[in-house]
Amino acid sequence: MNFDTTKLDATGKVVLDHIYDLETPLHFYNALSELDYSIPAEANPVFEKLISFLQKNKANKEIKLIDLGSSYGVNSALLKSKKSLNDLLERYKVRELKNSTSNELIKKDKSWYQVEKNSITIIGADVSERALDYALKTNLINNKLCGNFEERTLTETETQIIENTDLIISTGCIGYVGYQTIKELLNSLTPKQPIMAHFVLRTISFEKIEQEISKNGYKTYKSKMPFRQRSFASKEEKTSTLERLIEMGLNPENYEAEGSYYAHLYISLPSGIEFTSLPEGIKSYF
Ligand SMILES: C[S@@+](CC[C@H](N)C(=O)[O-])C[C@H]1O[C@@H](n2cnc3c(N)ncnc32)[C@H](O)[C@@H]1O
Repeated sequence: MNFDTTKLDATGKVVLDHIYDLETPLHFYNALSELDYSIPAEANPVFEKLISFLQKNKANKEIKLIDLGSSYGVNSALLKSKKSLNDLLERYKVRELKNSTSNELIKKDKSWYQVEKNSITIIGADVSERALDYALKTNLINNKLCGNFEERTLTETETQIIENTDLIISTGCIGYVGYQTIKELLNSLTPKQPIMAHFVLRTISFEKIEQEISKNGYKTYKSKMPFRQRSFASKEEKTSTLERLIEMGLNPENYEAEGSYYAHLYISLPSGIEFTSLPEGIKSYF
């Protein structure tokens, strides 16, 4: 791997910041391919089912969602194009694409994704303006929300961009963002209360977010089984993860001890939406 896999961040993960803020996702997908990345593919059927559930209660079937920590639009690609995560992880290994300029690659990607207008409006939310611009230029997202809402509030224009959001989703983002961002989004959306579905590494606690949003009337449900996220990048990352899990009172056997990160799905429902009303396909995860 062409980065230091022994350098860990405060949560014990290797530092991947260098792939999150570039003009194209070439290095992002190539690095994650080496780590056998899987969480967006695991999460996609859950997101699809939640979108169908929300569409049932809407005459025009138009659904608006925020993908928090959307990066280059990976969740959008799975929701809006016919590409699979595997297609994305394989695509950028090709020499011709590796040698393209950023502008050439964006043009090629736009016609490769072939995103057509559909009833899902996706707002990509991230701190990386470059990643969001790539996702916009390739039509993967409809609009962007760029900023660190751990540190500041939304502007009036940003509030208008997200108004009437039905669903907030995330993969691989909680931990980078905490309750401040979630509260800020919910406050800006008031009185609308979107459903939320977050995939959160087992090494990261969702407790503070759960407590804070319960003040807004949300009830949170945690999946029975965790979902595989990616392989560990190094033995240092694995060791620190196992130590952390044990400190948290969690048993890594059959999961992280086998060499991969695992994430739980947390679904948060606003008052007025009962867990029992969710489709069987969703309830079966809990
Ligand atoms: C591990 S990546 C996940 C990307 C994508 N959701 C996926 O599953 O592949 C984490 C993303 O969170 C973004 N991020 C980090 N801090 C953030 C913050 N404070 N607010 C929003 N996004 C943030 C990073 O720029 C990066 O794109």
